[in-house]
Amino acid sequence: MTADFAGKTALITGAGRGIGRALALGLGEAGSSVVLLARSETQLHETRALLLRRGVRAQRIRVVPTDLANDQQRSQAAAAVLEAGRVDILVNNAATVEPLGATLGIAAADLRLALEVNVVAPAMLTAAVLPGMLDAGWGRVVNVSSAVATNPAGMVRGNAYATTKAALEAHTLNLAAELRGTGVTVNAYRPGGVDTAMQAWIRQQDPERIGTDLHERFNKNFAEGSLITPEHSAAALLGHLAEDDNGAIWDVSTAPTSATIAE
Ligand SMILES: NC(=O)c1ccc[n+]([C@@H]2O[C@H](COP(=O)([O-])OP(=O)(O)OC[C@H]3O[C@@H](n4cnc5c(N)ncnc54)[C@H](OP(=O)(O)O)[C@@H]3O)[C@@H](O)[C@H]2O)c1
Repeated sequence: MTADFAGKTALITGAGRGIGRALALGLGEAGSSVVLLARSETQLHETRALLLRRGVRAQRIRVVPTDLANDQQRSQAAAAVLEAGRVDILVNNAATVEPLGATLGIAAADLRLALEVNVVAPAMLTAAVLPGMLDAGWGRVVNVSSAVATNPAGMVRGNAYATTKAALEAHTLNLAAELRGTGVTVNAYRPGGVDTAMQAWIRQQDPERIGTDLHERFNKNFAEGSLITPEHSAAALLGHLAEDDNGAIWDVSTAPTSATIAE
C-alpha cells in the first residue's frame, strides 16, 4: 500500500507524461493535492483528466505550465503555487537527456541548458518550498536521478546527462546533511529503465550522432521488453516517500515491500 498523503500538497515537475504523470496519479490517489508542472499544457491537462477520472476532486489539482529552463517563469510558478499554500512534497522529476553526442561537439549553451533544467531548477524549486516545510517541521523533497550517476562511464555520448545527474545527487546528499533533524528530508531516486517518451526519443536518434553503442543498447532494452512501466517505477518511489530516510539514494530495484506496483 502506498502511504496516505491526505492533506498534503505535492508539486511534481514533469507531470505531463512518463514517470511524472504516474507519480502525480499515485500521489493524487493517496490523498495529496497535486500541482502539475511541465511545459506542455496539453499533456498536463491529460494528467489532470486522468486524476479526475480516478476520483480526485478538481479542487485538489492545479496545472502550472512552466519552462524550468526559464528563470523568470520558474520563479513566477513557485510564487504562484506558494501563494495558494505550503508545498509539503516536492518531486523534482523533469529532466532533459539532451545534448547527446560526442562531447567535443557539445555547445556551451546546450550544456548550460541541461544544467539549468536538471540541476539549477530542482535546487531553486527546493529553495522556494523549503521555508514552508521548515516552518511546518515536515517536508519531502525527492530528486529523480538515474543509474548513470553510479556509473558515469556507462553512457558514452551522454556526458551532459551523466554530469547533471551526478551533480543532482551531490546536491541532494549535501542538502540532506544540512537539513538533518529538521523533519524535512531530501532523497534521490533512480527510477530504472522505464518505457517513456525519453527512452523512445533516444531510440529514434541517428546512431551516427549518439553512437552505435548507445543506440543499440536502448533499442535492445526495448526489444527485449526489459523496460518497466512508469507506474511500476512511481510506486517504488512512493513507497519510499512514506519512510523517514534522509540523504538516501533510492533505487527502483530496492523498493520497500510496502510499495504497491500497479502495472
Ligand atoms: N525513462 C527512463 O528510463 C529513465 C531512466 C533514468 C532516469 N530517468 C529520469 O526520470 C525522470 C522522468 O523521465 P521520463 O522518462 O518520465 O521522461 P519524459 O517522459 O520525457 O518526461 C519528462 C517530463 O519532464 C518535462 N520537462 C522536460 N523539460 C522540461 C522543462 N524545460 N521545463 C518543464 N518541464 C520539463 C516534460 O514535459 P515538457 O516536455 O512538456 O516540458 C515531461 O513532462 C527524468 O529525471 C529522467 O532523467 C528516466
